[in-house]
Amino acid sequence: MIHTLGNVDKQVLLEIASEKQIRKTSELFLLFSLGSQFDHLIKQAVDRLGVFCLVADPNKITAEDVRKIKPKGIIVSGGPASVYEGTLSFDCKIFDLGIPVMGICLGFQLWAQHIGCSVEKSPKREFGTHHLSIFENTILFSGCHSGCNVLMSHGDNVLKTTNSKIRVLAYTDNCPIAAGNYKHLWGVQFHPEVTETTIGPQIFWSFCFLICKAKNKYPAKDVAREKILSLRETIGNKNVLLALSGGSDSSTVAYLLRDALIHGQYETTDQLRGVYIRGIDRPDDEDHVRKYFDWIDLKIVDATDRFLKALRGKKTMPEKRLAMRGVYKAVLEKEAIEFGANFIAQGTLFTDISESGGGYEGEKKAQIKLHHNVELGFSFPELTPLDDCVKDTGRSIGREIGVPEDLLVRQPFPGPGLIVRIEGEITGDKLKIARQVDDIYIHELRNAGLYEGVWQAGAVITQSVTTCTKGDGAASGIVVALWAVWSVNGFTAQAAELPWDFIKLVSQRITNNVPEVGAVVYRTSDKPPATIEWG
Ligand code: XMP
Repeated sequence: MIHTLGNVDKQVLLEIASEKQIRKTSELFLLFSLGSQFDHLIKQAVDRLGVFCLVADPNKITAEDVRKIKPKGIIVSGGPASVYEGTLSFDCKIFDLGIPVMGICLGFQLWAQHIGCSVEKSPKREFGTHHLSIFENTILFSGCHSGCNVLMSHGDNVLKTTNSKIRVLAYTDNCPIAAGNYKHLWGVQFHPEVTETTIGPQIFWSFCFLICKAKNKYPAKDVAREKILSLRETIGNKNVLLALSGGSDSSTVAYLLRDALIHGQYETTDQLRGVYIRGIDRPDDEDHVRKYFDWIDLKIVDATDRFLKALRGKKTMPEKRLAMRGVYKAVLEKEAIEFGANFIAQGTLFTDISESGGGYEGEKKAQIKLHHNVELGFSFPELTPLDDCVKDTGRSIGREIGVPEDLLVRQPFPGPGLIVRIEGEITGDKLKIARQVDDIYIHELRNAGLYEGVWQAGAVITQSVTTCTKGDGAASGIVVALWAVWSVNGFTAQAAELPWDFIKLVSQRITNNVPEVGAVVYRTSDKPPATIEWG
């Protein structure tokens, strides 16, 4: 699978062709990610429309590369740079290819400068929601009304020069060109990808389907129907045990199974049991599953002791990951026998199999990481209805069959759970501290309205110990490392620049409320060189 397009050669073209097959489309969109903190929200907004969107590296992909892959449309995101600084290496010849472009913020300024507009530091930096006055109701604003709220976050403005050819489509009080158009180039100074911009989803829809004339979106409805019918036929009157973590994939499988097994005059089924494994999970995961899956025969299995026993003495990450897989498999096998199950169902995606070295396209692939849910060698036949899906096609199916959005867009959490966020040997005490710290951090991110803008965040229990002074005496305490990243697809990431006041608040809350913690640090490294998870 290609996660960020960094070059276009024969192999990449083959991979694109194969991914188009998986996504049942002949069309491709490119998103050039210029490093805005909201880039992953653009990807999500476009994925939601069911079109195939690949993230392109603006430093590597040239106009010649773009010409070879013939995208239906191109989105150029915002970013922290200024066009007049000359630090961006984006190939502006891409704007001359005649392919429809939607520039957002910096992406808009880039093409505007390219066609002769000037881009200047504005006297007033605009941040926050503003009323958008729409001048001209073009197809980009189809179905949108003037006066709606849009989120602005910029210090530079596109300005019209006497001979510039830009058509001004909209303005706000501080921004004379809040949206513009020139031939196939479209741009908005505001951020349509954030929830504050209520017309955002409509703008992405108009760009993809009216301006770029995309025809074949992922047929989630048909695929869902096929999967439900096939599950119904395979399962018949037999029983299924589902590994249910509450992440988007296992949740979607739960709903597929519901539709496969509950039909006709029935309102419930005793053929399905969900198992939630407690032990290396975060504090709110279990409640989250209980809240959304009250319609399923849900069994919570407390495997804490089994995990701790298997993890005893294991210090390296590969050892710990293997131990985790062993317990996960044993718990599911035991529960399947107890329930009288004939199948074990999991939310495994095609990507999980591919990253574990499997899959069906091309030659035998490298194993990037052995996923906890792949090749476990169960003695039961497995049901993995999403094993021909990638994350967003799985989500599209979920949306189609009514999986709550809250389940679909939760920040990712790795299968091996808190194990990858605790250094050294895993103990019950460390797990308890990891949960308390995670709870405070995620709670405060939500409180500050930062949760959605951050792609993923976590807290790590390090092996470092700091001397500290709490009360009158000297003591020592664990060093906790917080991290948060901005990313588009998890394959590269930028350390999120969280507000200092926020970091101080979380740090204080952790050291005040978790007695074992002596100090809190914040990770500033990007991926690469770091990875997103600590372990
Ligand atoms: P890394 O740490 O590789 O993480 O930069 C990229 C994304 O993958 C998640 N991750 C995992 N997910 N099993 C999973 O299901 C794993 O073993 C695993 N390791 C990392 C990580 O949380 C991030 O979202």
